[in-house]
Amino acid sequence: MKAELIADIIQAHCSGDEDRFRAAVEALAADESKKGNVRVSNLVLAAYTGKREAPLKKPETFTAASSGYATTSLNGPLSAYAPRDKDSLLDLYDIVYPSERLDDVVLPPNQRRLLLQILSERAENKKLAEHNLPPANRLLLCGPPGCGKTMTAFAIAHELGLPMAYVRLDGLISSYLGQTSVNLRKVFSSLKNMDIVLFLDEFDAIAKKRDDENEMGELKRVVTALLQNFDNMSERIFLIAATNHEHLLDPAIWRRFNYVVNLSYPDARQRQELINRWLDEYRVEHTLDVEKLTEITVDRSTAQIKEFIMSLAKRFVTTGRVIDMDDAIELYIQQLTNHANGGNIISVVAYLRDKGLSVRALAKALEMPHNTLAYQLKKLNDSEV
Ligand SMILES: Nc1ncnc2c1ncn2[C@@H]1O[C@H](COP(=O)(O)OP(=O)(O)OP(=O)(O)O)[C@@H](O)[C@H]1O
Ligand SMILES: [Mg+2]
Repeated sequence: MKAELIADIIQAHCSGDEDRFRAAVEALAADESKKGNVRVSNLVLAAYTGKREAPLKKPETFTAASSGYATTSLNGPLSAYAPRDKDSLLDLYDIVYPSERLDDVVLPPNQRRLLLQILSERAENKKLAEHNLPPANRLLLCGPPGCGKTMTAFAIAHELGLPMAYVRLDGLISSYLGQTSVNLRKVFSSLKNMDIVLFLDEFDAIAKKRDDENEMGELKRVVTALLQNFDNMSERIFLIAATNHEHLLDPAIWRRFNYVVNLSYPDARQRQELINRWLDEYRVEHTLDVEKLTEITVDRSTAQIKEFIMSLAKRFVTTGRVIDMDDAIELYIQQLTNHANGGNIISVVAYLRDKGLSVRALAKALEMPHNTLAYQLKKLNDSEV
């Protein structure tokens, strides 16, 4: 086999250019055939066609990634497609098969209805076509951290029965001039013949306003490339983008999406549902006042509430005793004063008192004399007046 032809194939694969890859494979097969090696030629072509036609296989085992989602990179047929950044050689995306269901995501009823409509649009695309209507295939998810954007994207892929190309920003964003736009094009073109969900998480990193004074020309080029790729995107791709900085997005981006869903902090009904659901799921024996927990978690993201309930569940499992409100208050104060949330203990206690917990219950959970805590709260109050 000619080394140049093999080098051509490798180069085409690394650049993510599927057309070039096919041409290079065909050139190698033709060369072998010309030399009379018909069997080798057929073998090369069959390897390529086999790759394209191989059924999508789910991996046997998933490993939970740091995000908590099943995000295994595959060694199956699709993984061969993931193009790489030319310089870092990092894959531009991982192919994952999410297992979250839409029922796992707790949402306000109107948002759930909208997501169900998006799923039915895809299922009923023939009916829609009779009315000259295209099904939605571009969805933007916005909202603060920890409110379910990534989870919702995964659930949509699962419900659509599609694999997901989860774009890796560390690979995509290149420090080399012009390379990020090239990477973007590689992502879109390598997926164009697939039924797949393309997920651009942390989307603001590549879609910031072009008039941002702090940004150099490179970002403008990236946004322009993004818009072009969106406009020429294959209808087989279902694109989902997620951001918690929607105010930073370039105005031209918005109209490229069929639907925008703004996921925000859970309301009281959602919080109560989530708390009950997780206490059940982790099989916690408790005497907790769930309504009270619903009230005091008002300013928390869904992820923070989950973290809190998980810490209660772990206390139950490790101590083997029934969990009560003292445990809940203690662990919640612990969460609110930890490094990430950074609250000072007395101001956190004052906040929880304002949310309806008695100073007595708070002092008991903190194992502090009631009078001492009441005095500290008064001092805080006086200093604020
Ligand atoms: N609406 C929800 N319903 C059920 N669980 C949720 C919901 N939102 C968040 N969670 C829980 O919180 C975790 C983190 O949520 P997720 O990663 O989807 O947040 P995000 O909005 O993508 O945050 P970020 O902006 O930080 O990426 C999820 O794995 C899930 O366990
Ligand atoms: Mg996320």
